[in-house]
Amino acid sequence: MTEFATRIRRATMAEHREAETRSFISRLMSGQVSYPGFAALTAQYLHIYRELEAAAASMRTDVIASGFADPALDRVPSLEADVAHLGSAAVQPLPATLRYVERLREHCHTSPAHFIAHHYVRYLGDLSGGLIVGRSVARTYGLGSGGVAFYSFAGIADPKAYKSAYRERLDLLPSVFSPAELDELVAESQLAFRLNAAVFAEMGDRHPAGMAAA
Ligand code: HEM
Repeated sequence: MTEFATRIRRATMAEHREAETRSFISRLMSGQVSYPGFAALTAQYLHIYRELEAAAASMRTDVIASGFADPALDRVPSLEADVAHLGSAAVQPLPATLRYVERLREHCHTSPAHFIAHHYVRYLGDLSGGLIVGRSVARTYGLGSGGVAFYSFAGIADPKAYKSAYRERLDLLPSVFSPAELDELVAESQLAFRLNAAVFAEMGDRHPAGMAAA
């Protein structure tokens, strides 16, 4: 790993640690979220990824951002199948989800730096901790492939290799973005973590610790 990938990882390390150890996701991993809570989280993700992937579609014509906007990452079809399976298709977005979606809508269709920041936070996370979370929730709620499609990437055979190639693309950004744009990207990735954290906090308020059984 060289410069820019290291920089963005370091800049979001504290936020990441918080997500790993204290958030709704860490409670989910220790089996302390009810089935409706898990189903509602999946519905929140669908609202978020619809906007993120609409932005990815806009970005496919951008010479820099298109390198990141790989359709093999798309989560919306999986999330639609999951919410149908889990019975949470009608769950409305939380206020924090609306704020996250609004931020994506405002900046990520037109600014490659903002788009890449949000893309990095979600998809590199999905290809890392997300795979571990997926195995854990499948076990907790006794789900086979239905309900947990979001957590696996049928189009990506080797997530580790994919992440290495992704980090190489991040490392090339200093040759195409100005220092100000790079700073903006780093700041936006920190904001993206905070927007996620706010969704987890509201999920936690609405779904206090309970038994995981379906
Ligand atoms: C309990 C929850 C989580 C666990 C156990 C976890 C675990 C991990 C692990 C083990 C890695 C390192 C993978 C590697 O080096 O290849 C990683 C990376 C990452 N995670 Fe998480 N994670 C969690 C939650 C999250 C959340 C909620 C987000 C964002 C919303 C996130 C975003 C990321 C990102 C962006 C990376 C890539 C860091 C980099 O190498 O640049 N993670 N995660």
